[in-house]
Amino acid sequence: MIYITGGTGLVGSHLLYELVQKTEKIRALKRKGSSLDGAREVFGYYTDNPDALFSRIEWVEGDLLDADILDKHLEGVSVVYHAAALVSFDPRDRKEMIKTNINGTSILVDLAMKKNIEKFCFVSSVAAIGPMAGFEPAEESAFWKKTRNTSWYSWSKFKSEMEVWRAIAEGLNGVIVNPSIILGPGNWHRGSGRLFQTTYKGLAFYTNGMTGFVDVRDVVKVIIMLMEKEIFGERFILNSQNITYKDILEMIAKGLGRKIPYIKAGRYLTSLVWRLDWLKNKLTGLPLILTRETARAGQNRKLFSNKKIRETIDFKFIPVAETIQQVCDIFLDGQGKRKKYKVF
Ligand SMILES: NC(=O)c1ccc[n+]([C@@H]2O[C@H](COP(=O)([O-])OP(=O)(O)OC[C@H]3O[C@@H](n4cnc5c(N)ncnc54)[C@H](OP(=O)(O)O)[C@@H]3O)[C@@H](O)[C@H]2O)c1
Repeated sequence: MIYITGGTGLVGSHLLYELVQKTEKIRALKRKGSSLDGAREVFGYYTDNPDALFSRIEWVEGDLLDADILDKHLEGVSVVYHAAALVSFDPRDRKEMIKTNINGTSILVDLAMKKNIEKFCFVSSVAAIGPMAGFEPAEESAFWKKTRNTSWYSWSKFKSEMEVWRAIAEGLNGVIVNPSIILGPGNWHRGSGRLFQTTYKGLAFYTNGMTGFVDVRDVVKVIIMLMEKEIFGERFILNSQNITYKDILEMIAKGLGRKIPYIKAGRYLTSLVWRLDWLKNKLTGLPLILTRETARAGQNRKLFSNKKIRETIDFKFIPVAETIQQVCDIFLDGQGKRKKYKVF
């Protein structure tokens, strides 16, 4: 039996879609009150009969922070994929994010050891990778460091990864992946999905930064391969290409038939905009669009090397332009109602 956390999210739903075709025995964690519609919709992007596959999943209710419930869920489980996390740059989510990401991971790895789980995969992030000397793309060996621009999300991913390393040192067969920004269809209101939503609505500004991007299908493919090959005690950066935000936004705008963002937002402008957004949020209660952390990230250049994973499993990543075209097509097709894509 395989147990998956985060099955309602971008990575988890794609992981479920792939795994459900390989095995019948999949148990997925969902929180009380969280919707399965997004995950079912993701299945619908790739098959005409999503329900036939979706109904094979045994959904179990609980929360990462509830050790008693997780203990029950892990009954009869031999393989765990841990893809749940709170991904947020909103200061109001800070406490919950730290608890969910760090304590939740700690609880899960402790239970995995107690239950003699045979294989454990943790979806970390490049946010847990440190900087390299000079301008070299960061590699897996680059140890995380706190800097002026470090986000609380980055800190939470570093600390949660440390929980997995601790368990590995104590005997868990665990592997860690560190994806860069994951692009994929679905969840248009959170994560990278918002890039498509916002660009579709009309975005005039671009920022100066540069970072890595990877297709969600590649993330899923790699983590399944690592588990099948039983490669443990390692971490792997998953990154297709390092690209400027300007180029990414231009590709998305073209793919969606929208005007290309044309105003460069430098440090001064972005710092002004996040403050105005903060004020708007205080006065009106409207959700935050830009926070101090996202504003700073938009100006940073953080490049990542994919050499280790390419060489370890001989993997070739989908080019980012191809991913963006596919995601834009699905977005425009009323979120996958018509076009079907071959995932794997
Ligand atoms: N998206 C990216 O660009 C990116 C890049 C690098 C790494 N990652 C990492 O990849 C993993 C998956 O990210 P994603 O993009 O798929 O995120 P996502 O779409 O935001 O999904 C997050 C998942 O975690 C679940 N979750 C959150 N808090 C929980 C809790 N207390 N108990 C149980 N489940 C909880 C959510 O459930 P609900 O539906 O109930 O909210 C959802 O299923 C995360 O570890 C993230 O840090 C993501």
